[in-house]
Amino acid sequence: MDQASSTPLTARRGGPLQGRSRVPGDKSISHRALILGALTVGETTIAGLLEGEDVLHTAQAMRALGARLERGGDGMWRIHGVGVGGFAAPAGPLDFGNSGTGVRLAIGALAGSPVTATFIGDASLNKRPMRRVLDPLERMGARVIEAAGDGRLPLTLQGAVEPVPIVYESPVPSAQLKSAVLLAGLSAPGETTVIETEASRDHTEKLLKHFGAKLTSKPRGEHGRRITLLGQPELEPANVVVPADPSSAAFPMVASLLVPGSDLILEAVMTNPLRTGLFTTLREMGANIETLASRDDGGEEVADLRVTTSKLKGVDVPASRAPSMIDEYPILAVAASFAEGVTRMRGLKELRVKESDRLGATAAMLRANGVTVEIEGDDLIVHGKGNVPGGGEVATHMDHRIAMAALMMGLASDNAVRIDDSAFIATSFPGFVELMRSLGADLT
Ligand code: S3P
Repeated sequence: MDQASSTPLTARRGGPLQGRSRVPGDKSISHRALILGALTVGETTIAGLLEGEDVLHTAQAMRALGARLERGGDGMWRIHGVGVGGFAAPAGPLDFGNSGTGVRLAIGALAGSPVTATFIGDASLNKRPMRRVLDPLERMGARVIEAAGDGRLPLTLQGAVEPVPIVYESPVPSAQLKSAVLLAGLSAPGETTVIETEASRDHTEKLLKHFGAKLTSKPRGEHGRRITLLGQPELEPANVVVPADPSSAAFPMVASLLVPGSDLILEAVMTNPLRTGLFTTLREMGANIETLASRDDGGEEVADLRVTTSKLKGVDVPASRAPSMIDEYPILAVAASFAEGVTRMRGLKELRVKESDRLGATAAMLRANGVTVEIEGDDLIVHGKGNVPGGGEVATHMDHRIAMAALMMGLASDNAVRIDDSAFIATSFPGFVELMRSLGADLT
């Protein structure tokens, strides 16, 4: 996708948001299911795969590395994988588009196969740090043949011929980094260990076990974990059911809290506690989010959530909560703008290296719409006044979550909010505009 094809979009205040909806499948689980399926001999089936551009790039990369993937219908996929360490050398570069998760996980998986591949992406992905994954993978025996400055994309990596297991203490709370090391560790003899000081989403660990790998995860310190994987397993083909993505549900959820008279049911949203920091925070702010029914869906807890318009107040969000809501700060900042009082979101350093500098882009989005906001160190401080003037044009910087957050703001602000480009929404939430319109949103 290039910026020449940008499609602006405007959100206006209208009637209440009402109805029932199921947002698409979880992006994190979708990438992982494809990659683990590609590393397994035999037939893996996936139901509910997110068919957004990010995940489709990962699917294409797995094909280029030798796996057979077939789409059987809406979200239904079948994979015949190559086995652990069995990737074939791809004929051309592997294009991951906008997706940091796709490329970092694939780099990890490739590091455990004795082949060379070139990884490329769009202008946003080219700016994102890859050194963090390359450092441990080089210790495991992979070699960077060529890379842009500081190990960025485009980069060519030679996988390890004899991967070495390591004990790795992760310097950043990143599930992508943890997952890259674990995926490389699949090919290494013996135990690969990742130590996290802040627990990050555990989908890789859960899926590795689901595919038959031997893995233990133990608490470490107040918020951390020590995860150990026994390498060179025979992964067993598995059926994966992908639950609805809580990071996507966040957008209609917050819009319903803000638009007067709204009453919305979001169906089967994943409520893995390592992903639900936003729900906790919104409830602390006074949000009516009712759990109607919870159940287990393919190894993850899911719940139908009823969300009704709520009067919100400002809160202090601790830094320790950041890993469980790292993608939700733009939309939380929107909620905070409509709250009464100050919301301080602490410890957002990692937001600077997302699809955009999300800390700066979030602050700019609010400012453009008349909200008082400050950045102090790594904290974002929003001065909520109960209403938002709106009327701004938001620069989305190739960032889907800035685009969706800004539109949700426009559904409740005094004046319309326009975004410069809605094209990147399709990376994570295909059908977003149609789904929001079906609930009553005015998006043109
Ligand atoms: C993801 C982890 C997070 C998140 C991203 C998805 C994952 O990134 O921002 O959207 O699927 O592992 P980091 O691990 O870099 O924090």
